Amino acid sequence: MNGMESRLRRIIRKDTGRSLVIAVDHGMALGPMTGIVDLKKTITELDATGKVDAWLITKGMYTYAFEPAGNPGVIMRASGAATIAGPDLTNEGITSSVSEALTLGADAVAASAFIGSAFEQKTLADMAGLATECRKWNVPLLGVMGLGKINEDKKKDPRFIALGARVGAEHGADIIKTYYTETDFDKVVAGCPVPVMIAGGPKCETDLDTLQMIYGALQGGARGIVMGRNVWQSPHPAALLTVVYSLIHDNITVKEAAQLLEQKIKE
Ligand code: 5RP
Repeated sequence: MNGMESRLRRIIRKDTGRSLVIAVDHGMALGPMTGIVDLKKTITELDATGKVDAWLITKGMYTYAFEPAGNPGVIMRASGAATIAGPDLTNEGITSSVSEALTLGADAVAASAFIGSAFEQKTLADMAGLATECRKWNVPLLGVMGLGKINEDKKKDPRFIALGARVGAEHGADIIKTYYTETDFDKVVAGCPVPVMIAGGPKCETDLDTLQMIYGALQGGARGIVMGRNVWQSPHPAALLTVVYSLIHDNITVKEAAQLLEQKIKE
């Protein structure tokens, strides 16, 4: 055992090799969105289910809005500083340090890099620099592989997504967060030596669509989710979370998941 292994186990469960991470870092760029306007309430309600392995959160919200019922893992956002009101969301910079994240109580840190964007070089160099810091402290780095508006159409292209996942790992990320591609997601996973987890992106039309996306990703070899909107913007966030947990950690099928969701909504 070492610090890296012990911290990774706070994020990715040793018994299933998978993880259910809820992302609540959106406000740093998008402001108070539906579902996380009162972030303290959202976190308290979802954490009370006992189904969240870890949270992806900024240092500000961790300090003022993080009151979980249990003792879940924490991945601290260490890049940001760009908003929807500014000229370019991909122009992120480093916003925290590994020592600050550790002092606050984080188990891992996260930074974005925007593949194919005008700020690809800067954000990848920042990611690589943070990886160097992380290695000094044995802290895992979550590489958040973004695209930027210019590449929005490539979100479903497995070759482009595979490129981003591999590039993130090459620059020192220990876990990759990227987008699910309906085709050839197994190839995205095969080309990346570190665990790949999926983001959800904007809200799917239905909860069933969300469940199908997660199931498809797991079948392709994803090790779980780092997901936000599709969980906390669902009409039934806690019920959906419980079902997503069973998809990830109990290996249930989509059909079983859909039935379980109906049951949980009625409870
Ligand atoms: C926001 C992020 C989110 O963490 C990420 O996109 C996951 O959330 P969602 O499932 O809502 O896409 O990077 O800045």
